[in-house]
Amino acid sequence: MQSRIIATGSHLPQKTVTNSDLVKTVETSNEWIIERTGIEQRHIAAEGELTSDLAAAAAKKAIANSGLKAEEIEMIIVATTTPDLTFPATATTVQAKIGAKAAFAFDIQAVCSGFVFAITTADNFIKSGQVKNALVIGADKLSSIVDWQDRNTCVLFGDGAGAVILQATEEENRGVIASSLYSDGTLNEILKTSGGPSSNQKSGFIEMAGKEVFKHAVDKMVKSVIATLAKAGLTTKDIDLLVPHQANLRILNAVATRLELPEEKVIVTVQKHANTSAASIPLALDHANSQKKIKDGDVVVLEALGGGLTWGSVVLKW
Ligand SMILES: CC(C)(COP(=O)(O)OP(=O)(O)OC[C@H]1O[C@@H](n2cnc3c(N)ncnc32)[C@H](O)[C@@H]1OP(=O)(O)O)[C@@H](O)C(=O)NCCC(=O)NCCS
Repeated sequence: MQSRIIATGSHLPQKTVTNSDLVKTVETSNEWIIERTGIEQRHIAAEGELTSDLAAAAAKKAIANSGLKAEEIEMIIVATTTPDLTFPATATTVQAKIGAKAAFAFDIQAVCSGFVFAITTADNFIKSGQVKNALVIGADKLSSIVDWQDRNTCVLFGDGAGAVILQATEEENRGVIASSLYSDGTLNEILKTSGGPSSNQKSGFIEMAGKEVFKHAVDKMVKSVIATLAKAGLTTKDIDLLVPHQANLRILNAVATRLELPEEKVIVTVQKHANTSAASIPLALDHANSQKKIKDGDVVVLEALGGGLTWGSVVLKW
């Protein structure tokens, strides 16, 4: 049994905040942000708009695009770092909001790598025969854990959600053909929040050693992609489309250069979305899919690195 993405969907909050808007609140400039990150704007959730709202909106679109009914979904995974509440899992709230009565639902917390961890988990449930239709969502409202006075971080992040329907197929060499997941908890100090339920009962703000994260991101994502392709008997020359985590245009370009990929094979949405953590890959994937940039049989590679550190990649045959 293999698992295959049969539909995608995504949702962005209506409100956008441009670099020029941020210049009014912190000492920065549009030029600095564009030169160092490529980011032009980010979408920010409205007051009262929760991670589960973003996730449910993306999920509804993916389900509609799949032709399935919500009741046919058997499993929901939400990858998120910004749950509505400490508990219950945001996935159960999404389940209620979309009416997927037959599904079991849980969250995965692997920060910006969350979607890669979630899709790999769902793939294993499908490969083991336990589930036929899985809804995998990456959703984050990072605006709620950003210190809007800290120019080192506030320019980088945004809110959004993306979703895919992963379905069992007996077709060989189709769908998820290989994946690799990695973690190194000894590096957790370089990207973390300043709070949490068991430490200070706060959700805290994002803290980051930007240069360190940058170095690890390029090196680890490149090695992960090469290793995952090798598991599938492929090389970087076989990649038709790279859908990377959208953190920083310079990271995307450095990874693409090291993988020797031309610009047209790399999906880039960071200018308009900024870093939406677990949502960034499924948002970019839905963007590519709805623009018909992915053809049947294409080798599509997803890759991400995030707090933990956690990182990994997935090779798909579309
Ligand atoms: C954060 C990042 C954009 C900074 O870019 P950089 O080229 O490494 O910049 P530096 O850290 O050298 O900072 C240069 C200067 O710009 C300043 N600076 C930081 N943010 C700024 C901002 N928004 N506007 C203007 N200046 C800023 C710094 O204070 C520093 O000043 P100093 O030299 O006087 O101390 C970059 O390191 C990065 O993207 N890292 C990865 C972050 C990431 O993707 N995290 C999430 C991963 S999932």
